[in-house]
Amino acid sequence: MHHQQTRPGFKSKFGAIAALAGSAVGLGNIWKFPYIAGTNGGGAFLLVYIFFTIAIGFPVMLAEFSLGRHSQQNALGTFRVLAPGTSWLLFGLLSILSATLILSFYGTVSGWTLEYIWLSLTNSFKGQNAEDINTIFNNFISHPYKAVLWQSGFMILTGAIIMGGVQKGIERYSKIMMPLLFLIIIALSINSLTLSGAAAGLKFLFRPAFTCLTADGVLAALGQAFFSLSVGMGILLTYASYIPRNDSLPHISLKVILTDTLVAILAGMAILPAVFSFQINPQAGPGLVFLTLPTVFQNLPAGEIWAVLFFILLTFAALTSAISLLEVPVAYLVEEKKMKRPAATLLATSVITFIGSFNTLSFGPLRNVHIGGMNVFEACDYLCSNILLPLGGILICIFSGWYLDKSILFNEISNNGILKIRFFKLYIFILKYIAPVCILLILLHAVGVI
Ligand code: PFF
Repeated sequence: MHHQQTRPGFKSKFGAIAALAGSAVGLGNIWKFPYIAGTNGGGAFLLVYIFFTIAIGFPVMLAEFSLGRHSQQNALGTFRVLAPGTSWLLFGLLSILSATLILSFYGTVSGWTLEYIWLSLTNSFKGQNAEDINTIFNNFISHPYKAVLWQSGFMILTGAIIMGGVQKGIERYSKIMMPLLFLIIIALSINSLTLSGAAAGLKFLFRPAFTCLTADGVLAALGQAFFSLSVGMGILLTYASYIPRNDSLPHISLKVILTDTLVAILAGMAILPAVFSFQINPQAGPGLVFLTLPTVFQNLPAGEIWAVLFFILLTFAALTSAISLLEVPVAYLVEEKKMKRPAATLLATSVITFIGSFNTLSFGPLRNVHIGGMNVFEACDYLCSNILLPLGGILICIFSGWYLDKSILFNEISNNGILKIRFFKLYIFILKYIAPVCILLILLHAVGVI
């Protein structure tokens, strides 16, 4: 029986949490959350976001955990074992495709963070005002190849960690990077509270301006909740297959969700006060952190050091998420296609870097290529965050709520009856009805049906 064999996984519970929180906490929290909240009404967005995280993200995460730990398989193998000979296998493939696509645009922004470490180390922001920094950013992202080189460098780092395997790669590096990241973000947000615009920034983040929240904003909140928690694309399935058998899945999910939400809020607290202090438009979009923070650091005592620290933080956050994305196709190639780990890593890394270069170049030489009014990068992000991830979420709900034998879920969640689970019926009800219907409504809105 498959579910009795346990393959080598994370060594410790802390390692498992660090890896999972490492996947969840990423550019999504620090780069994306502040600007999406900025464009969608600040506090109102935050409330809807937290609601989706708890009401939908949590149940779907727990279902993904249960499936992966039960099957002890990669994203495709899970369905091969639990639903042999059915079209659920296609869903497994879709997950692998989503992870691949996400990493292709994730690598773009991660490459930007590396350039910014370099610019901070060489003190290139010194004496530049907000406008100059805008120019530096725009010149960089539109350069014909510089950003692709940094992206490739980032992908090589990601591949090198993944090549080391689960314990010596993923777990080892997550255990170092995550605590450091946490310390830096706390220091930065405390620092931002001392700025003159702190009150306006905090008001913007925490005061719900419901009139600014549109249906699109609600859609963005769900997409962001899924993206930020890493649910809906086989990451959690794959990582869960490495979680030790005696660890409590509900417990781990709650810790991961709490960390993820906390870091998003801290990032908002670090960035939005600065936005208001230096009169940057909170709706600046994807460039927000890259435009705001160098200006902030200019005006801080020992600003150069803060700048280097911040962009290292951002790179760590990106790396621990990127490795989780890369692990999905790599685990698939190793386990389903019987490739050796180094070869699988090399193949997946090269393909993703190649596809990713189109995303990166869409701010430069390919800037005139538009899909549905968006550039390639924006279209790829939209497709993944607003369509593929919610679709993945619905399919997970249907698979575990309707198709799968409930005793499998119960046994995984309760560790075969050892843990007391009080809300199982409610949980199944949410999984069967509430979560898929909510996600469906939002998905239909994304594709323009309602
Ligand atoms: N959760 C990561 C973030 O918030 O940056 C991004 C991510 C990682 C998305 C892994 C999806 C994923 F599978």
